[in-house]
Amino acid sequence: MDVELVIIIIIFVGGGFVINLRELYKCEICGNVVEVVYAGAPALVCCGQKMKKLEAFTEDIGKEKHVPVVETSGDSIKVKVGSIEHPMEEKHYIAFIEVLTEDCILKKELKPGEKPEALFRIQKGDVKEVREYCNIHGLWKSKNKGVR
Ligand SMILES: [Fe+2]
Repeated sequence: MDVELVIIIIIFVGGGFVINLRELYKCEICGNVVEVVYAGAPALVCCGQKMKKLEAFTEDIGKEKHVPVVETSGDSIKVKVGSIEHPMEEKHYIAFIEVLTEDCILKKELKPGEKPEALFRIQKGDVKEVREYCNIHGLWKSKNKGVR
């Protein structure tokens, strides 16, 4: 009985032992970012250490804008990063934009030099979350699904 109690405390204090579907993790050594497409492992490891779970920011505070802006257009939505166009330079750019629904993820991968935006054929009512990843400033998502 005492052993079970100790195990429960370790899990609570240690945190991060539960890996959930769709979470993003980053290696703080090499910069690898992975997305969980099937939750099974108790932890993700890269370069010999546990990867850090990325938590999405929702409010811009600096000069550069990251929060995705969503515009609806017929049977599609257009996602722009952000309210002022984010740089798409070789060393600083938006790597991808994702639209999450109840049962799928739509993803647009981006490269330096491209516009930081993407068009997704989806009804706005099906959108559960809109998020993007900046290679320097991390993960960002819109508040209230980002759909106006
Ligand atoms: Fe950035």
